[in-house]
Amino acid sequence: MHIVWEIFLIFQAYFICTSAQLISPKIHDGWWAYKDAVQGSFVPVPSFWGLVNSAWNLCAMGKRQSPVNVETSHMIFDPFLTPLRLNTGGRSKMGGTMYNTGRHVSLRPDKAHLVNISGGPLGYSHRLEEIRLHFGSEEGQGSEHLLNGQSFPAEVQLIHYNQELYANYSEAAKSPNGVAIVSIFIKISESPNVFLNRMLNRDTITRITYKHDAFLLMGLNIADLYPDTTRFITYEGSMTIPPCFETATWILMNKPVYVTQMQMHSLRLLSQNEPYKIFLSMSDNTRPAQPLLQRCIRTNINFSKQGRDCPNNRALRPQYRVNQWLLK
Ligand SMILES: *[C@@H]1O[C@H](CO)[C@@H](O)[C@H](O)[C@H]1NC(C)=O
Ligand SMILES: *[C@@H]1O[C@H](CO)[C@@H](O)[C@H](O)[C@H]1NC(C)=O
Ligand SMILES: *[C@@H]1O[C@H](CO)[C@@H](O)[C@H](O)[C@H]1NC(C)=O
Repeated sequence: MHIVWEIFLIFQAYFICTSAQLISPKIHDGWWAYKDAVQGSFVPVPSFWGLVNSAWNLCAMGKRQSPVNVETSHMIFDPFLTPLRLNTGGRSKMGGTMYNTGRHVSLRPDKAHLVNISGGPLGYSHRLEEIRLHFGSEEGQGSEHLLNGQSFPAEVQLIHYNQELYANYSEAAKSPNGVAIVSIFIKISESPNVFLNRMLNRDTITRITYKHDAFLLMGLNIADLYPDTTRFITYEGSMTIPPCFETATWILMNKPVYVTQMQMHSLRLLSQNEPYKIFLSMSDNTRPAQPLLQRCIRTNINFSKQGRDCPNNRALRPQYRVNQWLLK
């Protein structure tokens, strides 16, 4: 609490010092950033998100925030996790609009092509709303989630909303069991993922160089984006952008997908700004890892296959403890 207050005081001091240069700093939905912007204009970076707007309190005070660092030795094998099911309604191809939002590369499937996921940790069917890319300015950073403290060059997030309980994404995002986000780490290789290759080839990506640029893509097969694995890691978390609502079930696939070095380079050449403004690379559009606290990270990877005394196998121990306790 003290630390938060001190940060707030620093923020206020900063605010007063720079307010001479600000015309009228308005608190609105879009007033946040990942990195410090150009001199003289304060825009709150992740450590300030929860302090500048009372509607974003969860970003600072929340106890189940995302992203997180996944320590694989702390995962718990859950034998009741079924495989994730992807449902494209029998139509394998879809169209979508790719946008430069100023913060992410975003792809929204058009409304005529509904894609659902269900199964895994999900009790409800969730409809695909948006695909979002986070990436770094260099190879050692770029993913939002970390695996044993390591980041990946990029992360693609498939954001779905609970279509059984809610009418649309905006309603679901603030409601219990509202959102399911499938996250796939991206690594570099000369044989890129087929789906990402459609989005990131030079002809396509250069059409969305500037903020608000949009480009229509047809004939996409969402199944192509998934790596070849049924294994995943899951935990209960939040949206990684303000207002940081704690309504998301995260599903991290256990294998990465790949893009080429050239495609990574093209991503770094995207601007956060409109063409008439200064070029500011979109890269490093990541929120830092948040504390896991009391949460548990479950997986359908059966560690006991690694042998009886494997230190990774925490699977049966909690059950054993419960039984011990019940026997008393
Ligand atoms: C998605 O789920 C809804 C409700 O469960 C269903 O009506 C719809 O047909 C599904 N769409 C697809 C493409 O599977
Ligand atoms: C979402 O659904 C709610 C509740 O039905 C409605 O009030 C709201 O206008 C909808 N929002 C959008 C963006 O469609
Ligand atoms: C996990 O693996 C062990 C060892 O191979 C096996 O005995 C056990 O049945 C597996 N559990 C499940 C739920 O698949």
